[in-house]
Amino acid sequence: MTDEEHLDADGDLGFAPAVVDDTGRGKDARPKAATAAPRRRRGGLRRRASSLAVLIGALTAVGGGYAMIAPSSGADDSIMTSENIEAGRQLFNNSCITCHGANLEGVPGRGPTIVGTGSASVYFQVSTGRMPAPVQGAWELRKIPKFNEQETLQLAAFVQSVGGGPQLPAATENLRAGPEALGEGGELFRLNCASCHGAAGKGAPLSAGKIAPDLNLSTDLQMYTAMQSGPENMPVFANNQITPEQKRAIIGYVQAMKESKDPGGASLGRIGPVAEGLLIWTVGLGVLMVSILWIGARL
Ligand code: HEC
Ligand code: HEC
Repeated sequence: MTDEEHLDADGDLGFAPAVVDDTGRGKDARPKAATAAPRRRRGGLRRRASSLAVLIGALTAVGGGYAMIAPSSGADDSIMTSENIEAGRQLFNNSCITCHGANLEGVPGRGPTIVGTGSASVYFQVSTGRMPAPVQGAWELRKIPKFNEQETLQLAAFVQSVGGGPQLPAATENLRAGPEALGEGGELFRLNCASCHGAAGKGAPLSAGKIAPDLNLSTDLQMYTAMQSGPENMPVFANNQITPEQKRAIIGYVQAMKESKDPGGASLGRIGPVAEGLLIWTVGLGVLMVSILWIGARL
């Protein structure tokens, strides 16, 4: 599936210049063939040729513009080099093959197939230290990662090359929307994530003894790839459900929430403004009562 997308993208980018070149040559050839024709006709041809040139120019500009923005919304193909894939294969054979099999087909009783999970899922699992899994359970817990960033991307490239699936977003891409999208991000977070991760992203227990973890340590790319791959009990949020732009808004919101140092005083567990008001109300009333009693006692 991703290979097709890859081909499409290449087709779009690769074709634009070729069309311009060919037609450009055709434009030169045409007046030569019409040398015998009367002047008026040649003028018309020239005019038509120049409007054709303008059209081609415009199309090229549009194509060029597309080429410039296309990679920012697309997948990251830059990691898919043969060196990365080969290095990833080595790492996979050393650390993953016993549970996931030589062709990612899985090993009964040890690990599931990871055909089609894609580079996004591998990045999430390996960069959060969940994979390689310990021999006995607890793979759902975040741990100190065993591989560095480069090795993680190599593993991701290898698994992607064998089985396809949802790809990592371009590494250079800004995955965090700006402050103008905080409102939208907050709304999307409350709608899609808060039911499991809690309103403040601090994590919460789920049924059957599972937990939705605290998002405090998650990086932008880990959040993005978590949404793309839906680890364990978490649903997959594909791009047709939550667009890449909306994913950026959610990430911007969560990171801003983590970074804010509770302006206005103590966080009171982030239960919100009601709590602060209530606190002032009760403490204030208490002080008032004590003063009344004190005044009464003095009289
Ligand atoms: C000891 C066995 C074991 C080893 C070693 C191991 N895995 Fe896994 N892996 C698992 C199990 C079990 C799961 C399923 C966990 C779950 O349900 O969340 C899993 C899940 C995954 C997933 C997510 C699959 C999905 O459908 O979302 C990926 C990706 C993955 N492993 C990659 C790797 C990579 C890459 C390595 C090597 C660096 C590795 N694993 C090493 C057992 C293992
Ligand atoms: C149905 C419950 C559920 C919903 C809804 C949900 N998640 Fe999760 N999420 C989980 C569980 C369970 C895990 C742990 C998975 C694992 O460890 O394999 C998780 C893991 C994560 C992680 C990894 C945290 C870490 O350890 O670094 C991130 C990031 C995350 N979720 C973000 C989100 C975002 C953003 C949304 C909303 C778009 C969302 N989740 C919606 C259940 C949920």
